[in-house]
Amino acid sequence: MAGMRSAVEREYRTLSPLDVRIQTHRRYSEAAHDVEADVIAAAAVTSGDRLLDVGPGTGTFLARLAADHTAPLTALDFSAESAAACAALPGVRALRGDAHHLPFAAGSFDVVTARHMLYHLDDPVPAVAEAGRVLRPGGRFAAVVNRRAPYPRMTALLNDVLTRHDVVSPPSPDERVHGGNLPGIVAEGLGLGPDSDRITILRRDDALVFPDAAPVVAYLVSILTLHGVPDDSPLRAPVTAALDAAVRAAFRTLPGGVWRDPKGYVIVTASP
Ligand SMILES: C[S@@+](CC[C@H](N)C(=O)[O-])C[C@H]1O[C@@H](n2cnc3c(N)ncnc32)[C@H](O)[C@@H]1O
Repeated sequence: MAGMRSAVEREYRTLSPLDVRIQTHRRYSEAAHDVEADVIAAAAVTSGDRLLDVGPGTGTFLARLAADHTAPLTALDFSAESAAACAALPGVRALRGDAHHLPFAAGSFDVVTARHMLYHLDDPVPAVAEAGRVLRPGGRFAAVVNRRAPYPRMTALLNDVLTRHDVVSPPSPDERVHGGNLPGIVAEGLGLGPDSDRITILRRDDALVFPDAAPVVAYLVSILTLHGVPDDSPLRAPVTAALDAAVRAAFRTLPGGVWRDPKGYVIVTASP
């Protein structure tokens, strides 16, 4: 797991690859789902809630809440760039830290969110337990991750290129925590039974639809660090060139010249 952790830390030293992925989803998603609005609704967030967002990344979720929030908003991320981006938001207290060890007293928050981040953790169950510890009784926890096996076409092409370059990739985040096992992870972390009526699940199915090769290549390059090919690797240039060639070749054979890759997300909300 040490390899995975260091790949994650390297990945989020700068947030520009994450931003490539966020912009790709905004521009090329088939359905107009709004994951941030879905999390806010699923956790029934009101402007008076003391809310902690664990792993806030670029901070767009907190920026959206900050516009009319009256209670404190808190961001905790181990990326310095994320903490700096969140600290610049009005009314947001931002800290660097690890989701496994939250530096807050028990019962400090009404809502804790962990959006698209549990799959990066060495062990997500204790991190969910930490979220439960810092929630007040009756507070709400909401986590969102990708559905099981998202983007199968991009994944297969990436794995093929990595194999041809003898890259030993850390386990893909999406294989570790996904829509299939998230409900059980949340239940275990919060000490609830697997069929507890305190857990609710929202599933959204969607797809990325690309009209040409450039955004597919950009997306794949944006996840190379997570897959064991960081910026400073001697393999970075040849792997990028091979991805570019493989994606362009695939486009020549796609029916209608369109690359469609199923994806989706699952939000699990629970009140411990
Ligand atoms: C895929 S990004 C998601 C960012 C944001 N939540 C979103 O949905 O756009 C994962 C974020 O989790 C953070 N992260 C990963 N592991 C962490 C840990 N152990 N403790 C705190 N933050 C972590 C990363 O630095 C990054 O900002």
